[in-house]
Amino acid sequence: MAKKMSLRSKAIVVFFVTLLLILASLFAGLGKLRDQVLRNEAQAVSDQVVSFRAWVAGTGMVWVNKLTPQFDEYLAVHDAGDSNFFYGKNPALATRELSTIANKTSTRASFSVTSDNVRQQANAPDSFEKKAIAEFTTDKTVPFVEAYEAKTYRYARPLIVKEGCLKCHGDPKDAPAAVIKKYGGQKAFHYKVGDVRGIISVKLPSITLVEALPTLINPWSVGGLVLAFLINFLFTTRFILNRLHKLTEDTKAIVSGKLDTPLIYTPPTESNDEVDHVYHSVDLLKRSMELVVRKIKRK
Ligand code: HEC
Repeated sequence: MAKKMSLRSKAIVVFFVTLLLILASLFAGLGKLRDQVLRNEAQAVSDQVVSFRAWVAGTGMVWVNKLTPQFDEYLAVHDAGDSNFFYGKNPALATRELSTIANKTSTRASFSVTSDNVRQQANAPDSFEKKAIAEFTTDKTVPFVEAYEAKTYRYARPLIVKEGCLKCHGDPKDAPAAVIKKYGGQKAFHYKVGDVRGIISVKLPSITLVEALPTLINPWSVGGLVLAFLINFLFTTRFILNRLHKLTEDTKAIVSGKLDTPLIYTPPTESNDEVDHVYHSVDLLKRSMELVVRKIKRK
């Protein structure tokens, strides 16, 4: 079939195959870009959680003097006299309450802190979170785990046990009485420094690649593709196809005896263009034909 195709058709086929390949690689690049954008956003959210926990941990606990029905938990009480009570919230509890607020509002991201060995049932992991914890436990060098679920992007980062965590997650004997009183001496103890205690888990709304596609349909990209097509088309037509056509016509005329047919081309000494070279060869052929004809006429 290719033998029967004109050079013009072949050039068009080659152009569109190239175009398809370019679009496919743009599409693949778009997927990578989406992954990177979502990963960065999730990282930023988990960094905020880390900072918040560090702030609460650094101050020991945050003390509030009012409990709302939604946030009525606390780890310690401080009687300031005059029936004024302060309620202490440790980092994990404060983080859980912050996440409850964040998850209810219209912020894009929701987050939680969870573990495969929860002290607080409300922190229980789902299947993605369980898998992520297992991965971090088997390989301590994995920095994060991510996945796409229907319309959601999932991200998890490990929380590693440090010296300061042991007070409440090491030997229950060392734990503050308030922790034992509220959670008992069984749950989430016996960790060692370096263990994976749990994860920060972030959820973000995701978009499918098809939904991301319109970003490729913008004046710059479409304009660029149209321009590429025009440049290709004009070049092949003007510098190759039209000249080959003219050369064919000229050669036919010379063969049919019109030896005065002018051949217009740049001589090979001044041009590297292959079509000029073919023209030159036909010109040489024409001149030797003229010589032969003159010789015959003289005889
Ligand atoms: C002052 C005591 C205390 C310290 C210190 C402490 N935790 Fe906790 N941790 C708790 C309590 C209490 C909970 C349960 C909070 C709740 O009710 O959500 C908890 C919960 C957690 C959870 C959520 C899963 C679960 O068991 O419910 C993770 C993960 C966690 N802690 C990690 C750490 C890490 C890592 C450190 C050290 C950087 C640390 N904790 C230090 C008291 C502590």
